Amino acid sequence: MTEEQQQIRDLAREFAEGELKPHAEEWDREAHFPREVVQKLGELGFLGMLLPEQYEGLGMDTATYLIALEEIARGDASVAVAMSVHNSLPTQMILAHGTDAQKERWLMPMARGEWLGAFSLSEPDAGSDAARMAAQARRVDGGWVLNGAKAWVTNGGFGDVVVAMARTDTPDDRRGAKGIGAFIIPTGAEGYIVGKKEDKMGQRASETVGIAFRDLFVADDQVLGDPSLGFIYALQGLDGGRMGIAAVATGIAQAALEHAVRYADERKQFGTPIRAFQGMQFKLANMAMRVEAARSLVMRAAAAKDAGKPEARLSSMAKLFASEAAMYVTTEAVQVFGGYGYVKEYPVERLFRDAKVTEIYEGTSEIQRTVIARELYR
Ligand code: CAA
Repeated sequence: MTEEQQQIRDLAREFAEGELKPHAEEWDREAHFPREVVQKLGELGFLGMLLPEQYEGLGMDTATYLIALEEIARGDASVAVAMSVHNSLPTQMILAHGTDAQKERWLMPMARGEWLGAFSLSEPDAGSDAARMAAQARRVDGGWVLNGAKAWVTNGGFGDVVVAMARTDTPDDRRGAKGIGAFIIPTGAEGYIVGKKEDKMGQRASETVGIAFRDLFVADDQVLGDPSLGFIYALQGLDGGRMGIAAVATGIAQAALEHAVRYADERKQFGTPIRAFQGMQFKLANMAMRVEAARSLVMRAAAAKDAGKPEARLSSMAKLFASEAAMYVTTEAVQVFGGYGYVKEYPVERLFRDAKVTEIYEGTSEIQRTVIARELYR
């Protein structure tokens, strides 16, 4: 790590230790997202890490951003996923494909953390097969009118701006993946309906909602780039987003490892701390190795992106490996704690639940394998 990266890591760690970790259990229990924390993240610059200074961002590289994100996840995965979605998806899509005017209008308040961003691709009947979405945008004078239902939108209710994908082709001329646009929509717009808030297994504090568009008018200056290439922009965005989820998963795994290491030292059975048993040492070693390997792969993917050569393959590998490592490490951490790991009094139970969704959102592990295998033949 460079000196700057160490400083950012320390800042994120201090914030996570002081402002997130002490409340994580309560926010999980209440399924409450601490909106005020977003404001603080914004004040620290954590919501504009990847945006250029010109747009009031910190202009940092991907590696530094992911180092900070892992630390935030180590404190609270729900806050981390909100930060990940905001930084990796809507802001990056606007930066990559927006006009100068769009960047001025949307990115500055998003970089300051005044507006929290969301990303909406999935639908109730189009998850892994996202290009089969049905939400329709109809061309009208000066813009588009959107109708349809979207699903699983992180930050979709209390967030302020969502970059949402909807079909721009017509029912009698379907163009598959090349018939979809990306639209910048303020969540306060008329016709933007927030639906059911999901009652989730883990990352319960992060808000996941269904949304609906009901004759929602979106002006031409809220369309990103070419209105037929929104799906491609979304997949490019997800290449970055998946690295973010990989960092979140690594943070969850790191937290579980630390709890297990401490507990194995404190807990005595058969007259000795359980870490004296080789069976326990093997467990801890396997957990620690996976955390390091996950982090290394995250940094490898980040380095490729920072060198201007982003690779879908590497970001899928990082997401796949880190999320499976998080599941492995948290499962083993529960085992190290024994019965105490199975009750809510100890944090490994929550970390175990928080880990699971990292194998599902932003592309399931099966989709990551599909992407990796396809790339092998490209
Ligand atoms: N970057 C740029 N372009 C890409 C690309 C990428 N990473 N991957 C594919 N494309 C291009 C392809 O080249 C193709 O264009 P051409 O025809 O010109 O070559 C076009 O996009 C369509 O690609 P495919 O034919 O590969 O499309 P597909 O329908 O077979 O789907 C898929 C590919 C990988 C399965 C994709 O649908 C996918 O990633 N699915 C998972 C969706 C997902 O991750 N959803 C998560 C939603 S976000 C979320 O979880 C909520 C949250 O808030 C956290």
